[in-house]
Amino acid sequence: MIEFGIDLGTANTVVCDAAGSVVLAEPSVILVRSDGRRRVLAATGRSAVDLVGRTPPSLQPLRPLQDGAITDLETSRLYLRSLIARAAPAPWWRRRRVRAVIGVPVGATALERRALLEAADEAGITRAATVDEPIAGAIGCGIDPMQHRARMVVDVGGGTAEVTAFCFGGLLAQSSSRVAGDEMTAAVAHYLREEHQVLVGELDAEEVKIRAGQTADPTVLVQGRDAGTGRARQVSVPVAEVTAALQPVIASIINALSSCLDELSPQATADVLAEGIVLFGGGSLAGGFAETLEQAFGFPVKRADNPLTCVAQGAAVCLRRPELILGYGQQL
Ligand SMILES: Nc1ncnc2c1ncn2[C@@H]1O[C@H](COP(=O)(O)OP(=O)(O)OP(=O)(O)O)[C@@H](O)[C@H]1O
Ligand SMILES: [Mg+2]
Repeated sequence: MIEFGIDLGTANTVVCDAAGSVVLAEPSVILVRSDGRRRVLAATGRSAVDLVGRTPPSLQPLRPLQDGAITDLETSRLYLRSLIARAAPAPWWRRRRVRAVIGVPVGATALERRALLEAADEAGITRAATVDEPIAGAIGCGIDPMQHRARMVVDVGGGTAEVTAFCFGGLLAQSSSRVAGDEMTAAVAHYLREEHQVLVGELDAEEVKIRAGQTADPTVLVQGRDAGTGRARQVSVPVAEVTAALQPVIASIINALSSCLDELSPQATADVLAEGIVLFGGGSLAGGFAETLEQAFGFPVKRADNPLTCVAQGAAVCLRRPELILGYGQQL
């Protein structure tokens, strides 16, 4: 039996083995060729991203998921099949028995969950179950979702940021922001264009955002095109300004956090205030994010040690602790 914990994110896909080691982490992109009525897989993940913008019209790059839910059963089946083939390169007779726990957004409907399990089944995963992503992420950060104290986590992904409170294996409250990591990237591109008259592509803007959160220097060097002349230009941009450009997005996530807190009982609120909140998802790595939340709420804000992989690692833990997902009427 081969076993996996899978985080099928809108931006990135992470696959862990049963021990919690990451075996695959790549952008969630699939390149398919329409071959008459059938769709044939051409590339997935990083190699598909490398080809974006360079492909003939017959090859379409697709995101297998939109807002964490599958949009097209056939694309998702092709994507899952290629994930399993790459995560467990084995002859087909050994690969026949694959068990997986797959993270899904809390807001996913029963129909969307069933569609995902169907795609998993058709992709050769013999036994699959879903787990709510915030619960999986919390488990991946070492939080026991069965504990008798309420906890709150914030998952800042590409397209959405989800705030979730839970206790004793059940959800207490949930709210989300429709802007998250990708909107931070857009804000950086906008800031560079408006304040420095430099045009950068989406990937370059993302790189500036990431570097600004990591560097100890007061400035980051940005390579782009002059907005007036179109010529290549290099500017040195203060990190503090890049961080400031992210503030409107962070404010929207703060609003989501406030409304989630508002839904809690006084007891549960007291637990959250005492324990603090845990952040994960790629967007939580943005410079100044944790600090801004801490200032806004005045309770401890902890960033996960493994923000990009904790959902898949938590899903892998559920392989061994099915009671964590059985509450949702599933069998593994
Ligand atoms: N070091 C970093 N600093 C800032 N942002 C980052 C960093 N690393 C990744 N990101 C951002 O995190 C986002 C992707 O996060 P993540 O991989 O958690 O999303 P996802 O799980 O695929 O999406 P979702 O949960 O919305 O389905 C992107 O917007 C990316 O730019
Ligand atoms: Mg995610």
